[in-house]
Amino acid sequence: MDLIMMEDVRKTYRVRGRGKGPGGFFGRPVREVRALSGVSLSIPAGALVGFIGPNGAGKSTTVKILSGILIPDGGRVQVAGRVPWRERTRHVAGIGVVFGQRTQLWWDVPVIDSMELLRDIYRIGESEFRSTLAHLTQALNIADLLNTPLRQLSLGQRMRCELAGSLIHRPRILLLDEPTVGLDAVSRQRVREFIRALNERQGVTVLLTTHDMADIEALCSRVIVIGHGELLMDGPLSKLRSQYAPEKRMTVEFAAAPPPPVAGAGSWQAQGSRVTLTFDPATHPAPVMVERVCAASPVRDLTIENLPIEEIVARMYREEAL
Ligand SMILES: Nc1ncnc2c1ncn2[C@@H]1O[C@H](COP(=O)(O)OP(=O)(O)OP(=O)(O)O)[C@@H](O)[C@H]1O
Ligand SMILES: [Mg+2]
Repeated sequence: MDLIMMEDVRKTYRVRGRGKGPGGFFGRPVREVRALSGVSLSIPAGALVGFIGPNGAGKSTTVKILSGILIPDGGRVQVAGRVPWRERTRHVAGIGVVFGQRTQLWWDVPVIDSMELLRDIYRIGESEFRSTLAHLTQALNIADLLNTPLRQLSLGQRMRCELAGSLIHRPRILLLDEPTVGLDAVSRQRVREFIRALNERQGVTVLLTTHDMADIEALCSRVIVIGHGELLMDGPLSKLRSQYAPEKRMTVEFAAAPPPPVAGAGSWQAQGSRVTLTFDPATHPAPVMVERVCAASPVRDLTIENLPIEEIVARMYREEAL
């Protein structure tokens, strides 16, 4: 059986509406927000899986259920053979969790104190604690931060400390909910490299939620896409591409004013002497399109590329919103 398993998981939040009903707070109307309507997924040990979807899709809800923080209304969940919310203590000993939007460490105390509190909570032996901390401190480059209260750290510094805190008990599973949100390019890169090494060298299984497609492209061979609480796709990035954006994009710099669109071009946008066109390589192979374009008018320069994954995902989200 896979390490992480969800089967037909459903979750509806019940929220009390605003204003005073006839019976005070309890008389207010209850509004239901369906966050997950039957999600199934399965992740084997050692995988690094990207988890994406538009705002409100149900990603954080899924991560919270897998962490044992939230109990679903229906369906089955097993993580490392346990039902997260039933065996919470043993469950949390085996997982690490980072919510990029929220801290898991203590706000007002130096980071090292948080680490020591975690050592006590997880009952980590002193020598194991020291060696793990030394490793994480070095890998995440946080030696200079350990004596600073968390609230005085920048977001990027804090995130590296959060990662250290989530791994101090050496979990085999790491659940990350937007660990790179708000980080600058350099910090993002560092966090990415750290996650990659953790997965490759130590075999830690990672579920990575992010809105940054560069994270996904850099790290994940498999992506799970969720929208409106339902699974939209599960597979390699290339599948997302073939399903939602099979076309390629050609940018052509003509020597003079551009000619009218050539046959096979899906779109044809001219700006000065430059044209950006799209085509479907399945029906119109790139060499054929290049030949047609060059035959239409003298060409100075030309590039062909796949649509950026950012754009594909935006398109997919838009389609879902319809
Ligand atoms: N505590 C809550 N009470 C009521 N509704 C909630 C609560 N948490 C989430 N929801 C609703 O459940 C749905 C799924 O939310 P969730 O936070 O799981 O989405 P998400 O995919 O993580 O989105 P984002 O990309 O914005 O983080 C949304 O409609 C949200 O408004
Ligand atoms: Mg979220």
